Amino acid sequence: MFHRFMQSLYSSVSAAAPLWYLLGLPPAVPALRATAAPGSTGFVGSETCRTCHPNIWLTFPRNPHFKSIAAGNLPPKKVGCEGCHGPGQAHVEAHGGKATIQAFSTMTPRQVIDRCLACHSQDVSRANIRRSVHTLADVACTSCHSIHKSPAPKFLLAKQQERDVCYGCHAPVRAQFSSPFKHRVNEGFMKCTDCHNPHGTPAPNWRMGSRPRMVSQAMETEEACLKCHSDKRGPFVYEHASVRADGCETCHNPHGSTNAKLLRRPVVFTLCLECHNGRGTFGRQGNGIPMQSPSHNMTDPSYQNCTTCHVRIHGSNADPTFLR
Ligand code: HEC
Ligand code: HEC
Ligand code: HEC
Ligand code: HEC
Ligand code: HEC
Ligand code: HEC
Ligand code: HEC
Ligand code: HEC
Ligand code: HEC
Ligand code: HEC
Repeated sequence: MFHRFMQSLYSSVSAAAPLWYLLGLPPAVPALRATAAPGSTGFVGSETCRTCHPNIWLTFPRNPHFKSIAAGNLPPKKVGCEGCHGPGQAHVEAHGGKATIQAFSTMTPRQVIDRCLACHSQDVSRANIRRSVHTLADVACTSCHSIHKSPAPKFLLAKQQERDVCYGCHAPVRAQFSSPFKHRVNEGFMKCTDCHNPHGTPAPNWRMGSRPRMVSQAMETEEACLKCHSDKRGPFVYEHASVRADGCETCHNPHGSTNAKLLRRPVVFTLCLECHNGRGTFGRQGNGIPMQSPSHNMTDPSYQNCTTCHVRIHGSNADPTFLR
C-alpha cells in the first residue's frame, strides 16, 4: 500500500527517478523561462537576472527563498527574484536601472514592510507587526534581515549573532547584560528572542503587567519567563498578587542587575516596602496591601531580609503568608 503510494508520488513528480535525487545532489532549476511569454505581465523568470547579477544569483540557491523556484508550481509573482523585486521585463529591456524595478534602496520602511508581508503576513509570529513598536518607529524588516548577504546560519539575520543585530540600535542593553548578575545573553547561552518578539506582541493582559515591551508570551497568555522558570508558574493556592498581576519585572531587572537574584533593589525589604508600606489606610494604591504585622521588629536587622522567612515569595500551596 505504502509502496504503491510512493510509486504514484514519484511518477507524478517526474516520469523517471530523478538523477539528482539518486546522487543526493540539489535539484536543477526547473522550467525557467528566458523571456516573457506573450501576454504575460512582464515577468521574465529568475534565470534572466543571472547574466547581470551573477554574485547574487550564485548565493541564491542557499537562500530559503530559493524554495519558490524549486517548487516549480507557483505563479510568477511569487517566484524567485521577481517575488520580491516585481516583474523584470522593463528592467531587462532598459539594461538595468533602479527606476525600472522594485529596488529596496529606494523604498520607504513602510513599502519594505508591505513588500515582505505580501508573503509573510500569515505567520503567527508576525500577527502584530503592524502595530509593533518597531514598525511604529520605522524599523523595517531589512534593518534586521539581510536577504542577499546574511552571515547568520538561520533566519537571514543581518549579523552573525542575533544580539549584535539588536545591539546595533540598543547599545545600553549590552551593558545591562554585562552586570554582575545577569541572564547570559552575551555569553551565548540565551537570546533576546527567548523573551522578546521583535515582530511585536499582542496587547498586554493581566499576566503581563502593564509594560509589554514586546516581551513575548509563553503558553499564550503568560510572561515568557515562565517557559524556563516553570516552578514560578503556579497556580498556587496562595498567590502573591504582585507576581501574578504586575509581572516579574516588578521585582526583577530582567536583563541584569548589580543585585543578586536580579533584584531591582540592593536590600530586599526596600523592595517589599514599596508596596507593604501602610501608606494611606490600605497601602499605597489604596488597594488593601497589608502591612507587616506588629510582630515584625523593623529595627531588628534579622527582620530586614524578608525572604529568610517568607521563602515562597512567588506563591505558596501551604501558607497564606508564604512562610513555607
Ligand atoms: C525575499 C526577497 C528578495 C528576493 C527573493 C530577492 N531579493 Fe534582491 N533584494 C532584496 C532586498 C531586501 C534588497 C536590499 C538589500 C538587502 O537588504 O539585502 C535586495 C537587493 C538587491 C540588489 C541590489 C543590492 C545589491 O546587493 O547589489 C540586487 C541587484 C538584487 N537584489 C537582485 C536580486 C536577484 C537577481 C534576485 C534573484 C536571484 C533577488 N534579488 C531576489 C530582496 C530580495
Ligand atoms: C542587462 C543587465 C541586467 C539584467 C538582465 C538585470 N539587471 Fe538588475 N540591474 C542592472 C544594472 C546595471 C543595475 C544597476 C542600476 C544602478 O545601480 O543604477 C541593476 C539594478 C538592479 C536592482 C536595484 C539595486 C538597488 O540599487 O537597489 C535590482 C533590485 C535589480 N537590478 C534586480 C534585477 C532582477 C530581479 C533581474 C531579473 C528579473 C535583473 N535585475 C536583471 C542590470 C541588469
Ligand atoms: C527588530 C528586528 C527585526 C525586524 C524589524 C524583523 N525581524 Fe524577522 N526576525 C528577527 C529575529 C531576531 C528573528 C529570529 C527569531 C528567532 O530566533 O526565534 C526573526 C525571524 C524571522 C523569520 C523566521 C522565523 C519566524 O518567525 O517565522 C521570518 C520569516 C521573519 N523574521 C520575517 C520578517 C519580516 C517579513 C519582517 C518585516 C515585515 C521582519 N521579519 C522584521 C528580527 C527582526
Ligand atoms: C514571494 C513571497 C515572499 C516574499 C515577497 C518574501 N518572502 Fe521571505 N520567505 C518566503 C518563503 C516561501 C520562505 C521559506 C519558508 C520556508 O522555509 O518554508 C521565506 C523565508 C523567509 C525567512 C526565514 C528564513 C529561515 O531561515 O527560516 C525570512 C527571515 C524571510 N523570509 C524574510 C523575508 C523578508 C525580510 C522579506 C522582504 C524583503 C521577504 N522575506 C519577502 C516567501 C517570501
Ligand atoms: C530574560 C528575558 C529577556 C531577555 C533575554 C531580553 N530581554 Fe529585553 N526586556 C525584558 C523585559 C521583561 C523587559 C520589560 C522591562 C520593564 O518593563 O521594566 C525588557 C525590556 C527591554 C527594552 C525596553 C526597556 C529598556 O530597557 O530600554 C529593550 C530595548 C530590550 N528589552 C532589549 C533587549 C535586547 C536587545 C535583548 C538581547 C540583547 C533583550 N532585551 C533580552 C526581558 C528580556
Ligand atoms: C534599526 C534599529 C533597531 C534594531 C536593529 C532593533 N531595534 Fe528595537 N527598537 C528600535 C526603536 C527605534 C525602538 C522604539 C523605542 C525606542 O525609541 O527605543 C525599539 C524598541 C524596542 C523595544 C522596546 C519596546 C517598547 O515597548 O518600548 C524592545 C524590547 C526592542 N526594541 C527589542 C529589540 C530586539 C530584541 C532587537 C533585535 C532582534 C531589536 N530591538 C533591534 C530600534 C531597533
Ligand atoms: C530561556 C530560558 C530563560 C528565560 C526565558 C528566562 N530565564 Fe531567568 N534564568 C535562566 C537561567 C538559565 C538562569 C541561570 C543564570 C545563568 O544563566 O547563569 C536564570 C536566572 C534567573 C534569575 C536569577 C536566579 C539566581 O538564582 O540568581 C532570575 C531572578 C531570573 N532568571 C528571572 C527571570 C525573569 C524575570 C524572566 C523573564 C523576564 C526570565 N528569568 C526568563 C533562564 C531563563
Ligand atoms: C514581589 C516581588 C517579586 C516578584 C513579582 C517576582 N519575584 Fe522572583 N524573587 C523575588 C525575591 C525577593 C527573590 C529572592 C529570594 C531569595 O533571596 O531567596 C526572588 C528570586 C527569584 C529567582 C531565584 C531564586 C528562585 O526561587 O529560584 C527566580 C528564578 C525568580 N525570582 C524568578 C521570578 C519570575 C519568573 C517571576 C515572574 C513570574 C518573579 N520572579 C517575580 C521577588 C519577586
Ligand atoms: C508590587 C507590590 C508588591 C511588592 C513589591 C510586594 N508585595 Fe507582597 N503583596 C502585594 C499584594 C497586592 C498582596 C495581596 C494582598 C491581599 O491579598 O489582600 C501581597 C501579599 C503579601 C503577603 C500575604 C499577606 C496576607 O495577609 O495574605 C505577604 C506575606 C507579602 N505580600 C510579602 C511580601 C514580601 C516579603 C515582599 C518583598 C520580597 C513583597 N510582599 C513585595 C504586593 C506587593
Ligand atoms: C523572622 C521571620 C520573618 C521575617 C524576617 C519577616 N516576616 Fe513577615 N511574617 C512573619 C510571620 C511569622 C508572619 C505571620 C504571623 C504574623 O502576622 O506575625 C508574617 C506576616 C507578614 C505579613 C502579613 C501580615 C498580615 O497582617 O496579614 C506581611 C505583609 C509580611 N509579613 C511582610 C514582611 C516584610 C515586608 C518583611 C521584610 C521587611 C517581613 N515580612 C519579614 C515572619 C517574618
